[in-house]
Amino acid sequence: GDSGSAFSLSLCLSLSLSLSQIVLSAFQQQKEVMLKSSPADLVTETDQRVEKILISAIRDKYPQHKFIGEESVAAGERLELSDSPTWIIDPIDGTVNFVHRFPFVAISIAFAVNKQTEFGIVYSCVEDKLYCAQRGGGAFLNGEPLHASGQEDISRCLVVTEIGAERDDLALSTMTSNIFRLLKLPVHGVRALGTAAVDMCQVATGGADAYYHIGMHCWDIAASALIVQEAGGVVMDTDGSQFDMMSRKVIAASSSAVANRIAQVVQAFPCRRDDED
Ligand code: IPD
Repeated sequence: GDSGSAFSLSLCLSLSLSLSQIVLSAFQQQKEVMLKSSPADLVTETDQRVEKILISAIRDKYPQHKFIGEESVAAGERLELSDSPTWIIDPIDGTVNFVHRFPFVAISIAFAVNKQTEFGIVYSCVEDKLYCAQRGGGAFLNGEPLHASGQEDISRCLVVTEIGAERDDLALSTMTSNIFRLLKLPVHGVRALGTAAVDMCQVATGGADAYYHIGMHCWDIAASALIVQEAGGVVMDTDGSQFDMMSRKVIAASSSAVANRIAQVVQAFPCRRDDED
């Protein structure tokens, strides 16, 4: 990217490092938990606070930029990705983990121009792992270059997934039978860390060979999708079509062979696109 984009990336890095202090100190404390769309879709005062600070700090520097923030959308703001420079923010990915002190919580920030992601960062706060990628510039973990495994044989894959926050019968039966189908392929194993952003970054490190999820939102995966691509992995929709961060369906994999094999077996339940009115 240009120097403007380099500057906004460094702003985003320093903001996420300083905001992780707020996340980490609240992590140890008792939290007041509020429910959103389902009994497993949670929010705390810390999610809201971190998002507010992030947006106001960025808006100070870039008054024209647009924002898509998880908690702003939950509070009723319109979700729209236009061609304008747009920041896509999840202040705490893994809020259920955060509430329970299960040690995987991340700040996820992506920056898109003309609907194309220019850079993305995922900061896994408790682990102190900073994943970062710039379009065309490679992917890094704490400064070290990342490479997806390149695995092409599905039967040798470790697959990460999440059940997600939906709790209606159709969503639950679809997601559990998808796990059954993956295990029967067979794959080596199925894992879940409880944060889509950090899950997906595992594919970028080569620690997992694939990730698949249905029902998450654009802010959970916008940054990590670029991180996977820049690490040499592939991202696509679960129906095998082109990746669309608004579709709420994603496969990230070490190779297109593995991604396509997963697309053949998993089924989707209907969920509204993120950008549907
Ligand atoms: C959730 C997490 C979780 C995933 C859900 C997401 P949040 O995000 O990424 O792993 O299964 O679909 O909504 O609410 O903790 O930011």
